[in-house]
Amino acid sequence: MKKVLVIGATGLIGSALINKLDDSRFSVLGTYMTHKKKGYEHLSISDRNSVFSLFDKIRPDIAILTAAFSYVDGCETNKELANRINIKGTRNVVDACGKYKTKLVFTSSYYVFDGSKRWYAEKDKQNPLNYYGITKMKGEELVKQLGYYLIVRLTNVFDFGLDEKNFVVRMVRSLRYGNEVKAPNDQYTNPITATNVAELVNKLLLDNKVGIYHVGGSEYINRYDFAVKVAKFLGLDYNLINSVDTKDLFQKAKRPSCGLKTEKIQKELNVKMLNVEGSLKLIKERIGMI
Ligand SMILES: NC(=O)c1ccc[n+]([C@@H]2O[C@H](COP(=O)([O-])OP(=O)(O)OC[C@H]3O[C@@H](n4cnc5c(N)ncnc54)[C@H](OP(=O)(O)O)[C@@H]3O)[C@@H](O)[C@H]2O)c1
Repeated sequence: MKKVLVIGATGLIGSALINKLDDSRFSVLGTYMTHKKKGYEHLSISDRNSVFSLFDKIRPDIAILTAAFSYVDGCETNKELANRINIKGTRNVVDACGKYKTKLVFTSSYYVFDGSKRWYAEKDKQNPLNYYGITKMKGEELVKQLGYYLIVRLTNVFDFGLDEKNFVVRMVRSLRYGNEVKAPNDQYTNPITATNVAELVNKLLLDNKVGIYHVGGSEYINRYDFAVKVAKFLGLDYNLINSVDTKDLFQKAKRPSCGLKTEKIQKELNVKMLNVEGSLKLIKERIGMI
């Protein structure tokens, strides 16, 4: 059994990983920061001593770093905090992985790209438009200093029943209460569920893959059309969803509009990515949890 430490196990992707990592092959332990959970270890990745003490205690074979300051507009307005968590925190985990010979899996983002084209492959040039993207790019640079790493770049990730704050969960709640929501019609992504992300990370680990992999769904869709599709699928009133231009949202951080090409992972793992409807069918049973 390999020991796997999921850092940020109370978040959207961390929770899915806890559910999906193969427990016949991996013995999995999670960490939390503010959402205390029984059996999980407390960890602030910005606290270098705590990171090293936890690695010393657990001696993980694999660490999956999902912990981050992932509030994109927050990173723009509080760069100091973004640095402290996404850059210094990542450096602490990278250094601990180096010391304890731990393989590191780092969750990065399509925000490392500028969206000047529709689709990006793993080797494409990075050029982040906002500070969150800059911190993810710098995080990747730190991770690449390790010989033994996996960088998983993600697009727009959603799911039901795993966290409280992803866009789809917030939208479903608003529509149920008859409240209007706004969704930009000019921000395209290729959405994927956290469950599917976790299944793919599990496969990458079982196959001992290293390097960079893009992970996203098969459908290139803007956030408004995506929202309408989800609402229709769930029988909610999609007329409450307003189509807006990004500029009218007055977001603090600029957003790229682009998808992640997934040919590499599909070919190497012999898997097929799902479209939005296929993804929704697989997680529909958990709709009662939100
Ligand atoms: N969700 C997406 O659409 C998406 C897209 C692209 C990339 N990503 C990347 O995927 C990763 C996971 O995203 P997510 O959506 O699952 O994030 P999330 O739901 O915000 O979860 C973040 C996790 O990190 C923990 N955490 C926060 N600050 C921490 C700190 N300073 N030290 C230690 N732990 C800390 C949180 O713990 P508590 O909850 O206990 O405070 C939580 O478990 C991030 O690296 C993000 O950049 C996400």
